[in-house]
Amino acid sequence: MRQSSLLLSLLFLWTAGVKGQSLIPSPLTYQPLTGSHPLERTYRIEPESKAIWREAKAAGWDVLQSSSLSAYRGHSASRNRNQGIISMACYADDPRPEAYALRITPDTLWVKANTTDGWRHALTTLRRLAADANNGAIPCVSIEDAPAMAWRGVMLDVSRHFYPIPTLYNVVDWLARYKMNRLHLHLTDAAGWRMEIKRYPLLTKQAAWRDAALWKTWWNGTRAYAHEGDTAAYGGYYTQKQLRQLVKYASRRGVTIVPEIEMPAHSEEVTAAYLELSCTHDPKGQPDFCPGNEGTFTFLQNVLAEVMDVFPSTDIHVGGDEAGKAAWPTCSLCRQRVKDEDLPSVQALQGYLIRRIAAYARERGRRIIAWDEVLDDSMPTDVQVMIWRDTTTVRKAIARGHDVILAPGAFCYLDAYQDDPSLGPEANGAYRPLSRVYGYRPLAGLSVEERSHIRGIQGCLWTEYVPTPADVERMLLPRLLAIAENGWTGGCEKDYASFRQRAVAECNRLRAQGIQAFNLGAEVGDRPASRQPVWHKARGAKVIYHRPYNNTYTAGGETALTDGRRGGWDYGAGSAWQGFISRGRIDLTLDLGKVMDVRRVAMDFFQSAGPEIYLPSSFRIAAVDEAGQETELVTRSETTVRHTLPSVETWGWQGEIRTRYLHIQANSGPLGGWLFTDEIIVE
Ligand code: ACM
Ligand code: ZN
Repeated sequence: MRQSSLLLSLLFLWTAGVKGQSLIPSPLTYQPLTGSHPLERTYRIEPESKAIWREAKAAGWDVLQSSSLSAYRGHSASRNRNQGIISMACYADDPRPEAYALRITPDTLWVKANTTDGWRHALTTLRRLAADANNGAIPCVSIEDAPAMAWRGVMLDVSRHFYPIPTLYNVVDWLARYKMNRLHLHLTDAAGWRMEIKRYPLLTKQAAWRDAALWKTWWNGTRAYAHEGDTAAYGGYYTQKQLRQLVKYASRRGVTIVPEIEMPAHSEEVTAAYLELSCTHDPKGQPDFCPGNEGTFTFLQNVLAEVMDVFPSTDIHVGGDEAGKAAWPTCSLCRQRVKDEDLPSVQALQGYLIRRIAAYARERGRRIIAWDEVLDDSMPTDVQVMIWRDTTTVRKAIARGHDVILAPGAFCYLDAYQDDPSLGPEANGAYRPLSRVYGYRPLAGLSVEERSHIRGIQGCLWTEYVPTPADVERMLLPRLLAIAENGWTGGCEKDYASFRQRAVAECNRLRAQGIQAFNLGAEVGDRPASRQPVWHKARGAKVIYHRPYNNTYTAGGETALTDGRRGGWDYGAGSAWQGFISRGRIDLTLDLGKVMDVRRVAMDFFQSAGPEIYLPSSFRIAAVDEAGQETELVTRSETTVRHTLPSVETWGWQGEIRTRYLHIQANSGPLGGWLFTDEIIVE
């Protein structure tokens, strides 16, 4: 069968056959057959060829020669087992490297695959079915399956907080469990360097240690480094030996470890240890390397040489995000470099640095990945772009010939709150529940040609607010499952109800195994007020803005504050929260259309300290008559109103007045920042 017609028939079956099964990620097809397959048995394995058996053995199938599938239900095999047959064949005509087919009949497991990855996926599916078996038997079924995307990954930031090596093994196990295949380790950042580099011992004697354990305390405090062995030092690093063992363990489970070494920015910990690598030689550490200094390249290349020696991954991530470049314009070495290389500006030194590093990697048979900021500079097309800021840059990257890995923050950053944020614990910024992560449509709007440049999808766990391994478990699980399913299926067809049901069951299983997954079954969900429209006297009334709302956080514009739509925990663009940042913040007049009795005016204000959204520090409502005379109804002022966790407060007035116009003012006081409100409720 040609690939296209195979794909078409598989797509047809996907919609026809997948409902009612419990697998995550959902397989391409799932056709129940009659009968069931008892677990209590040993197997006679019948591979079609030696090559098949080699691949299947590498994927772990040999275990079934000596133990039974009931082991996956935690039972020891009974003595009077009968014998089953595992028939192994390869696809004669399917080039997709990870495809597998699994047909379970009462006596025989029919398995097809072409590669170790395919055999591994088949075994993973079989284990899941065995673990879910009813009355000691698996219901018979036929599954045809293959992933839509080649790269299905997660990034773990081990810099902001450091986790002992067993945590990384656990993450590898979860990736394998959901048929994912990349663990991207964010090994370096201001908060600590995490990989032993033999040539530069200060990276692990000093740059790996800081003077406060909690990232927030440290970042808002000294931002000072410590030394290995200091009593109060927090930090740590992985030895090359530990990392090599991890690579091997992961490789046996189909997971490639992709290292990331940050450059030119996010590097204070390095430049505090090796002063000559920044433009200013500031002993507190500068965020950016000096790209004018040839020593910077010597350092980076020596580091990468050791990194490549430990990590066989073809793909090496070199950061490239959020470079402030503040010291470059006044640095004589940087200015000289701009001249010598005939660069258009000092800012272009970032592109120069990444291009040189890309060439270094290319000469060694590797390809670099960088965050999407590198698109601002001309880059060779073999530089792969990891999208994080904005999904609209996907097409820009592809149009320039780059391959792309999708990790847009709005869907794929798993450091945000996954439930009602006012319940805590503190997380990073926004509300990004499982439904939001699952709702990402990574391939939407892309042509077939554009899709061929999408390598895959990745969840990212930044760990500023993830201090312990248990927090890693809670933040990754179950949102990792949504990434897994979107990567495997391509995320075009969505059935959130089915996915959520499977994810709740999986969370329960994980928790029963002692893994501290978020208790999805007890999810509180979005702010109740946001779930249905509110009816009140000002619905549809005109709002005259004396100060503008912000162009990004419009909540729909002029009608937003009287449309009955209330804000949820997501305050982002497109939400019902209207944002104000210009001087004076909120200053508007509500026109009720005619004089009426007013007993209550209420406005909700959102507060989240991370993104600098504050409650008002001053607030005033006045009734205004036709002549413009104001009768003050309420004024309220507070010096600073801040909650640690995102929250909503209602501000307003109650009393008795007849008026047509209400003049409403709110300001944000000395903290500056934003005011966000969703509706002016009048009763
Ligand atoms: C990033 O979030 N700075 C890649
Ligand atoms: Zn410089």
